[in-house]
Amino acid sequence: MSENGEKKEKDLKKEAKELFKVFYEKTKDFQKATAQTIKEMSDKTFKGVQPSKEKVKEITEGIVEGIQETRKQMGDKLETVLKTLQDLTAKATAGVMDILSGVIEGVEEATEKERSEECLRYIKERRSVTFFDPQKEVSEDTVREIINIATLTPSSYNLQPWEVIVVKDKETKKKLKEVCNNQQKVEDASVDLVVIANLRAAEEHVDKILDSWTELGYISPDQRENLRKQILEEWKSPEKKKRKAIRDTAMFAMSIMIVARHFGLETHPLEGFDEQRLKKLLGIGKDRIVVLIISMGYKDPQKELPPRAYRYKFEEFGRLI
Ligand SMILES: Cc1cc2nc3c(=O)[nH]c(=O)nc-3n(C[C@H](O)[C@H](O)[C@H](O)COP(=O)(O)O)c2cc1C
Repeated sequence: MSENGEKKEKDLKKEAKELFKVFYEKTKDFQKATAQTIKEMSDKTFKGVQPSKEKVKEITEGIVEGIQETRKQMGDKLETVLKTLQDLTAKATAGVMDILSGVIEGVEEATEKERSEECLRYIKERRSVTFFDPQKEVSEDTVREIINIATLTPSSYNLQPWEVIVVKDKETKKKLKEVCNNQQKVEDASVDLVVIANLRAAEEHVDKILDSWTELGYISPDQRENLRKQILEEWKSPEKKKRKAIRDTAMFAMSIMIVARHFGLETHPLEGFDEQRLKKLLGIGKDRIVVLIISMGYKDPQKELPPRAYRYKFEEFGRLI
């Protein structure tokens, strides 16, 4: 192959790789990014001309590299997609258009399978990771995204009685470790999320929530006032409001831990802290309860967790009536 030809081939591969990453970033969807990359690359490169198998191979190899690089941030996600692409490019003996549509079909099937298994995997693979890599940081954008997705957690009357303080500052993490019975993971984690139940959530959030319900037609304007009274009444008893706020906030915390897995992150929930000292350290008011802290970061790759300890089975703790 001529020097020029080689350069051109490399460029094609590089271009497909970069394009894949751009599309992936936009859609956060391997299937779409792959299909879009193939389409754009073939529109641009072949312009109605029957492409050579080599060129198609270059493009698909570029996409494979793009996936491999993206995958580094995503754990071992989409193993099957990669395999489909690799198999098809390796066996590129069919007509070129057959290869392209085969790749897309394969990717679609594999992605669908991945997607349907994804949530189960996040739940099954989550562990309370004790060893974080203190050098590896989680970006602020990722933390924000995780928390914003976790806000989709259900809550009674949609009152969302949770608050979060994200502790990233190294000095504050050190102090936080001290109020958490010196648990080293608190300092080693990239961030610690102090998850708080807001006992004033009803009075603070009720109007915004009822406005949204009225606007969306969940309730009629004349039902609004009665419902408002009912909600505030339910939140009057100190015991009841505490239970409500903690229940919803605990579910929110679980969502954070599951969503974090999607971003290839590990977490550790903690209740081992001195709440009074913690509240003083972070300036948390009396009308708030710290439900738990979630340490979050990347696992120290040098260390291994012991296998998961015993889990009771439904047959042992459940009843089917
Ligand atoms: C609300 C809550 C508080 C916890 N507090 C601590 C803690 O302070 N220190 C600790 O080492 N582990 C703590 N854990 C972790 C549990 O010990 C752990 O989740 C359990 O042993 C099961 O392990 P797994 O999460 O790896 O499946 C806590 C877990 C939860 C849900």
